Amino acid sequence: MIPYIQKLGIVVESWYPLGGRGHTEELLTNETISSIADAHGVTSAQVILRWDIQNGVIVMPGSSNPEHIKENLDIFGFELIDDEMEQIKALDRDEKHDWY
Ligand SMILES: NC(=O)c1ccc[n+]([C@@H]2O[C@H](COP(=O)([O-])OP(=O)(O)OC[C@H]3O[C@@H](n4cnc5c(N)ncnc54)[C@H](OP(=O)(O)O)[C@@H]3O)[C@@H](O)[C@H]2O)c1
Repeated sequence: MIPYIQKLGIVVESWYPLGGRGHTEELLTNETISSIADAHGVTSAQVILRWDIQNGVIVMPGSSNPEHIKENLDIFGFELIDDEMEQIKALDRDEKHDWY
């Protein structure tokens, strides 16, 4: 769906990039994401945000924690390799999501 939309010149934004307030635990403690984060010396949140932008998807993470805000901006000093991009893509559960 996303590559198709992007091919039409439409910019895609991730609505709840970290799972949404109160629902971040599943993503932030995911073993695949954590191990990729460890390999790059970054956090799981940074890997998730980086994965989105490498897919050409805009991210607007919400945070009221100054340290998290700094961390979320600091995602341009590393790059996920193809294999890591694929590992995260493979976490897709083919669930229906809302599109706005
Ligand atoms: N207009 C609307 O109706 C509407 C509806 C939904 C969403 N939105 C917007 O979409 C954006 C995202 O929504 P959201 O904030 O619910 O979802 P989100 O960005 O997926 O998740 C936010 C949660 O992630 C935590 N977090 C952020 N950075 C983190 C980090 N580096 N490490 C660990 N935890 C981190 C935040 O906690 P801390 O505060 O502790 O960092 C908060 O609990 C927001 O800007 C929101 O305004 C708008």
